Amino acid sequence: MGYQPERYDLLEIAMRAAREAAGVIRAAAPRSRTIDWRSKGPTDFVSEVDLAAEACILAVVTRELPEATILAEESAADTSPERVAHGLALVIDPLDGTTNFLHGYPEYAVSIGVLMDGEPVAAVVLDVPGDELFTAIAGGGAFLNGTPIRVSTISDPQRALIGTGFPFKDPADIAPYQAQMSRVMAQVSGVRRPGAASIDLASVAAGRFDAFWENILSPWDFAAGMLLVREAGGLVTGLDGSHLRALAPGGVLAGNPQLHEWLARVLREP
Ligand code: IPD
Ligand code: CA
Ligand code: CA
Repeated sequence: MGYQPERYDLLEIAMRAAREAAGVIRAAAPRSRTIDWRSKGPTDFVSEVDLAAEACILAVVTRELPEATILAEESAADTSPERVAHGLALVIDPLDGTTNFLHGYPEYAVSIGVLMDGEPVAAVVLDVPGDELFTAIAGGGAFLNGTPIRVSTISDPQRALIGTGFPFKDPADIAPYQAQMSRVMAQVSGVRRPGAASIDLASVAAGRFDAFWENILSPWDFAAGMLLVREAGGLVTGLDGSHLRALAPGGVLAGNPQLHEWLARVLREP
């Protein structure tokens, strides 16, 4: 695909917004354990830092891209999904890994996916404590701090490191997940649950994880990460291998092509 200046401009704006939000998060990190939290659900929290980081991103993107529709986690209730599916849209998680952040566990990120007619065209995942900037442009590759990244070449499950996310909102989701986990654990080298889905997907793109699955995610958790994986040569789909729609909540399965196919098969088993 040829040079597409508009996608690079979009990526540039998303990177600037993510860096500013990361500055807000970084400044608050030393007092993260004394920050006020509010419950969105019994085990789902939002803090003043999520809100401040989101406000910071929105200030940049609404100024630079006034024509874009915004789907941002903390103000998502104000957005109709149909509007986001047309034209230019930004799907924003201002702080992915809030629980980690609030506990001082260094695994959280700013995630911004830029969509055109519902498909990701540019992506930024900025791992704040690790200071790792993952970027991608549709047709233009995936990068970590400016260096190209690729998915791993491991095809033997016994050698594979698999990333995952636990269901944590509805206790009824735990038993089916445990059944999946038992099958996967028995066959691989290791399973990790770091706690920030955008970084999990970036880890697949960078070849650190060979595959990843999570049964329930929201668009802002994966809109950026899905493009990173694709542009790094990986596959990212729904759990059943179906086309992953960036704007629909649901399960996400990602991996290098071999391990993606293997994990899809294992998750399908009764
Ligand atoms: C969460 C993280 C976590 C995943 C959850 C997400 P948040 O996002 O990505 O890894 O397991 O499903 O909701 O709430 O910290 O932005
Ligand atoms: Ca998230
Ligand atoms: Ca979040």
